Amino acid sequence: MSNEDKPAYSPGLEGVIAGESAICAVDANAGLLYRGYDIHELAVRASFEDVVWLLLYGELPTTAQYEQVHEQLVRDNRLPEPVIAALRLMPPEAAPIDLLRTGVSMLGLFDPEPADASHAANLRRAMRIIARIPTLVSTGWCLARGKKPLAPGDSLTYAARFLRNLGGAAPDTTMTSAFNTILVLYAEHDFNASTFAARVTASTLSDLYSAVTSAIGTLKGPLHGGANEQAMNVLREIGSPDRAEAWAKQKLAAKEKVMGFGHRIYRSGDSRVPVMRELGRQLGRQTGQGKWVEICEALEAVMLREKGLYANVDLYAAPVLLMMGIPPELNTPIFAMSRAAGWCAHVIEQLDHNRIIRPRSLYTGPAPRKLEAAAFRAEATRSQ
Ligand code: COA
Repeated sequence: MSNEDKPAYSPGLEGVIAGESAICAVDANAGLLYRGYDIHELAVRASFEDVVWLLLYGELPTTAQYEQVHEQLVRDNRLPEPVIAALRLMPPEAAPIDLLRTGVSMLGLFDPEPADASHAANLRRAMRIIARIPTLVSTGWCLARGKKPLAPGDSLTYAARFLRNLGGAAPDTTMTSAFNTILVLYAEHDFNASTFAARVTASTLSDLYSAVTSAIGTLKGPLHGGANEQAMNVLREIGSPDRAEAWAKQKLAAKEKVMGFGHRIYRSGDSRVPVMRELGRQLGRQTGQGKWVEICEALEAVMLREKGLYANVDLYAAPVLLMMGIPPELNTPIFAMSRAAGWCAHVIEQLDHNRIIRPRSLYTGPAPRKLEAAAFRAEATRSQ
């Protein structure tokens, strides 16, 4: 073994700068900017279509560009027939996030310009992926329940189209606006695990569909995007605000992780939580289901006091989506629907300045050793 200098080791890559990016800035003290714009402003003023354009092109769209992105997301939202046929063959009990991962992978087989890996072609491809993910989610959901999937509603916004395709009726403006806010909040978050996975895949000069498929597989885990589905189980298990303290103390004493709490970067709370919490309060008043947010708030207080841990966005996303009538199994696919915009922007940025991402490991295996004679016994038997 050589005596080369070893780079510093950081478990979980904590604190490691693994690349440059102009897409998003995350501040440990609760700041989050998409291309320089504060998420708190975007969450109340921007549409998801605006954010898609902003992340992919670097600037907010002009009116004409807004029309363009809207039209592209409408034009590209239909699934190829063989993909629908394949979704029909999937087990009805399959998890929606697994259907989505498989569906995006299948979409790669039907790309109309597979040989073109240029920046411009990848922007077009990104629009196709972002447009089709909600259709994959709603189609997979309907087929698994023996329902006929609806044709995408072309005149609707991205947020309204998904809600309508899922529920069958045109959603009201409050629900559409709440859902739009969720999509904006989830769209981008720097080098989070799934985005990093997408960039690693792209860095080998693989294609955008493969990168997004890697990202969805990474998002699925409960330490990342899977937490917003798990958080609903937590709230249901607790059941009422007065039970939050005892429940949390028992979990902490057992050294169990509480989903929806903690973050690798944020030290004084997740920047997205205040917006999501307020959305939860509003929907609670509107739907008469205020207890879910009250449980979250009681849990927040005890987790901070007992363990110094803040809630992350997934805690409040869970009741918000539930109050919108969305089944918790769709929480993580909805996260994917939104984050696809960030993933695609990162993949395109990676390819524009590519160098393969290939870190080292710190070897902890056996010291160099010689093969013993015993190791060859099987070989000797074979050669007889
Ligand atoms: N519940 C209970 N304890 C938690 C916790 C949680 N949600 N998150 C972190 N901790 C504790 C750890 O047990 C550890 O405690 P210790 O020092 O006493 O051993 C300490 O806080 C540091 O946690 P660690 O897991 O090393 O932090 P990380 O930066 O590696 O992980 C997360 C970050 C987000 C993966 C982690 O906080 C977590 O698992 N959260 C729950 C899943 C979740 O909500 N994910 C969505 C993230 S947006």
